[in-house]
Order: sequence, then C-alpha cells, then structure tokens
Amino acid sequence: MSFLDLANNRYTTKKYNPNKKVSSEQIEELREIIRLSPSSINSQPWKFLFIKNEEIKNKLAEVSFHNTQKIKEASLLVVFTAIDDINIFEKQLHENLSQGHIDYYNQKMKNKDLNEIKLWFNNQIYISLGFFLSACADLGLDSTAMEGIEKDKYNEILDLKGYKTIVAVAVGYRDDEDFNQPSLNPKLRLSKENVTEII
Ligand SMILES: Cc1cc2nc3c(=O)[nH]c(=O)nc-3n(C[C@H](O)[C@H](O)[C@H](O)COP(=O)(O)O)c2cc1C
Repeated sequence: MSFLDLANNRYTTKKYNPNKKVSSEQIEELREIIRLSPSSINSQPWKFLFIKNEEIKNKLAEVSFHNTQKIKEASLLVVFTAIDDINIFEKQLHENLSQGHIDYYNQKMKNKDLNEIKLWFNNQIYISLGFFLSACADLGLDSTAMEGIEKDKYNEILDLKGYKTIVAVAVGYRDDEDFNQPSLNPKLRLSKENVTEII
C-alpha cells in the first residue's frame, strides 16, 4: 500500500478485538522501528515500554480516563517516556553520540533553562509517536494514540526513575464493528488548500 493509502486508512481505533493478538515477531519489528525514529541532534531522549503483561496493562488501563476499555481489549500498550533527569541524558549523549552533536548540545542547549531542555525532549517523543503510528499502519496493526492517561500514576505503576510518561499507544486489531473506522466514519480533515501552501 502506498503511504497515502496508509494515511487514508489508518485511524484511531475505539474498540479492539480482545481475541486477536499482536505476534511476538510484530512486537520485535515495532521495537526495531521505534529505535530508528529521528530526533534533533540524534538526541533520543526516550524509552519505549512495551506492556504485554496483562496485570500491569490492566492497572494502567484503570488510570486512563475514557481509554480504559481500549487498553484492556488491545493486545499491547506502548508507553512513550522521556528522560526527566538531565544527568541520564548527558551520560547517554557522551557515551553514544558524535562529537558534532555533543558540541551542538554544549553550545546551544546545555545552558538553557532546564524546563526548556525538557520541553525539547518531549518534542522528540512526539516525533517518535508519529513514526510509530505510521509503522503500525504499515504492519497492518490498528492503534490509538492516547494523551488521556494519568501520567503521574503511570510513572508510579511503572516505577519510572529518571524518566516520565508523555503519551501511550494501544496496539491491536479492531473490533469488526468499531464505529470509528473510516468506512463507517469518514476522515474529517481540513482541506489541503487550508493547511498547506506552495510559496
Ligand atoms: C497526541 C495525541 C493524543 C491523543 N489522545 C487520544 C486519547 O486519549 N483517546 C482517544 O481516543 N484518541 C486520542 N487521540 C486521537 C485523535 O483524536 C485522532 O488522531 C484525531 O481525531 C484524528 O482522527 P484519526 O486518528 O482517526 O484520523 C490522540 C491523538 C494524538 C495524536
């Protein structure tokens, strides 16, 4: 399928088939793809937690507002976390990145307000989110991006240290009757002329 077809056909799944599971091979492929997400100066200020364990997934579902049922019925929950401890980031930077990127960070970022640096981290997570949603569509998997989650409670349940929850994605296969699929609920978007311009 072309990327345009994927974009037209992927959608935010509202009801999952609890009996259809994402295979271990697909999970490994998603892990490999998400690792390859681009980020500013290749900063990769993230960790992606693939929650297969039903008990933990159910606990997270309970602190996910209107998303509870989706998470319970989806096969997999992926929690996107950003580094929240600058020491972890700087260690990772020095151990793994090129000198050019280290220099850029030292000259342009390091002296900024800590909140601004953390916001910059969060922006990178959202790039990986878009990348991941497209990857799911390419693998024939349905997905739901979710900001409607109690992030502090996620941090506690997952016992995150030095990282914090930004967003989560349920992954699985749709219920055949999910009202939100494009054949039943056509995509609503602003027009191409509205949101793009050729200058
Ligand atoms: C960052 C982000 C957070 C979202 N949070 C939720 C959510 O908590 N629950 C939900 O059902 N949909 C959520 N959505 C889905 C959006 O509402 C959806 O992408 C938008 O309405 C466009 O519809 P489509 O994805 O079906 O094309 C979220 C989407 C994004 C990108």
